[in-house]
Amino acid sequence: MKAILRLVGCAVAVFALIGAAYAQFAKPEEAIAYRQSVMKVIGHHFNSLGAMVKETSPFDQAAVASDVQVVAMMAGLPWAAFAVAGSDQGETRLKSSALKENDKFMAAASAFETASDLLREVAGGGDEGAVKAQFGAVAQTCKGCHGVYRK
Ligand code: HEC
Repeated sequence: MKAILRLVGCAVAVFALIGAAYAQFAKPEEAIAYRQSVMKVIGHHFNSLGAMVKETSPFDQAAVASDVQVVAMMAGLPWAAFAVAGSDQGETRLKSSALKENDKFMAAASAFETASDLLREVAGGGDEGAVKAQFGAVAQTCKGCHGVYRK
């Protein structure tokens, strides 16, 4: 019985997480605010990593692990908010093409997620050179998407 309760508890927790990732938005402005906030957090931790990679700040294994963790965790969150009709208007830099060709946009998102997961894995190995190389690979996925879908 206890085991079953534990399983049910896990399922509830998992659905709660999925619910957060697929949160619905009542208005386009809410989707815009949500995705910009997530991007801001990703940007903050990615810049912190970038400074260590470029050695403008000391390369600190623990700080790398924590930044990489946040980026990988946040990487799956904003995409539903990028698919909301009308969210290419107003206080946003999203190009309308991202909504029209949402499958291509999502492919760019997925490339970023995969690269971030790999960065987290590589960071766990503690090889500074490998971390720097994979950081570069993730940065390419940011630039790749921004170059096409951000005004
Ligand atoms: C699949 C596309 C995509 C990927 C991948 C992506 N971004 Fe973005 N990002 C966008 C779009 C589109 C916007 C504009 C959002 C808006 O204004 O509604 C944006 C906005 C931002 C912003 C500005 C947020 C604000 O409004 O203050 C930052 C910072 C940012 N991204 C950082 C990053 C970093 C760093 C990465 C990679 C580690 C990344 N992004 C990966 C599409 C992407």
